[in-house]
Amino acid sequence: MTNLVTFDNQFLKKFINDEEYDNFQSTAQNAVEQLIDGSGAGGTETKWLNLPNDYDAEEFTRIQSVAKKIQNDSEVLIVIGIGGSYLGARAVIEYINGTNYNLTANRDGLPEIYFVGNTTSAAYQQEIINIIGDRDFSINVISKSGTTTEPAIAFRFFKKLAEQKYGDQAKDKIYVTTDSQKGALKEVAAKNDYETFVVPDRVGGRYSVLSAVGLLPISVSGIDIDKLYAGARLALGDFNVESDSVKYAITRNILYRQGFNIELFNGYEPRFQYIFEWLKQLFAESEGKNNRGIFPTAAIFTTDLHSIGQFIQEGRKIIFETVLNIKKSSMDEIIPSGDNVDQLAYLEGKNLSFITNGAMIGTINAHISAGVPNIKLDIEDDEARTLGYLIHFFETSAAISGYLNAINPFNQNGVEVYKTNMFKILGKPGY
Ligand code: PA5
Repeated sequence: MTNLVTFDNQFLKKFINDEEYDNFQSTAQNAVEQLIDGSGAGGTETKWLNLPNDYDAEEFTRIQSVAKKIQNDSEVLIVIGIGGSYLGARAVIEYINGTNYNLTANRDGLPEIYFVGNTTSAAYQQEIINIIGDRDFSINVISKSGTTTEPAIAFRFFKKLAEQKYGDQAKDKIYVTTDSQKGALKEVAAKNDYETFVVPDRVGGRYSVLSAVGLLPISVSGIDIDKLYAGARLALGDFNVESDSVKYAITRNILYRQGFNIELFNGYEPRFQYIFEWLKQLFAESEGKNNRGIFPTAAIFTTDLHSIGQFIQEGRKIIFETVLNIKKSSMDEIIPSGDNVDQLAYLEGKNLSFITNGAMIGTINAHISAGVPNIKLDIEDDEARTLGYLIHFFETSAAISGYLNAINPFNQNGVEVYKTNMFKILGKPGY
């Protein structure tokens, strides 16, 4: 076992006993076997599991060379997509490069990256068009179905912008990531001779970050996707019924059966923000069905301890927490000396990581003393390789957790209901 991500159960002792774990063992064994052999619910959609070993090598190399081309000919990359077609890329880029990536990108000679097509807000779209200004830009439009309304509308606007600026050469600035065979976007790409990348068959949107869906924008931002893949490969190698991703899935299900219906992901780094957005989608769309499921939400600590912290401590006991703890951060700062008017002399010379750790352990103990179970996941470091491991770890956890709760973790029929209503209201033919 490489265990770049480990499950720490020390704060669960008063909430879960060994018998509760034992009761889940045979169900978990079945779930793991079903995921591996594809015999479980939605088993045709599990190709993401082996992607780290099976991914098309030609496509992987082409992603890296197109990323270099975009870095050389564009100051801005516009990524058009919604849900699983953008959250993974944004999560990786902002976690590795920082939440202020766009403010530092130019300094490092890299394109700024903006995500559109994930809202119908005219104000947001106008803001991004203004940010591009008269600078060179490329577009990566991503949609597995090729028919999702929000990105399709955004593509109309940004395609037009590219055609106005580049004329016939616009086709050299537009990259399409979509299904290999079907869909409106596939047709548009063929008609306009756009370079295309494939959302692999049998890989659903929220499980697609380690395909071209995530890899092209991630690579444009300067992140080494070989390292990301190396970590995912290690996680795949570690995956079995004894692995920590399965222990984590079992633990969530035990807590759920005890009445803890909400999982609050938290961590002490603002750069977790989009990792949490990706996790919210991964778990909510995978598990929230048949009137069952854990509701995933997230907070950045210590920031949010000064807002929702009060509820966690003293509010209704429906929440359990999953704390993401980076063990060795690549960055640290020492608290400088000063006069002691601020009464901080006792911290002089100490690292910020020391304060962070104190805040985390203090918070976990405060919350468990109030009856809020805490799962701690230790993440070895903040390198791309470990992030690749973390991504695969959570994907397998979500799938296994779904099987433990007897649902199909790979469909999302519930999302169609708002779309049908919206299409009726907007007058789409056939609705
Ligand atoms: O996980 C999923 O499958 C969804 O969230 C999709 O990613 C999202 O709806 C976007 O779909 P598409 O890529 O077909 O535009």
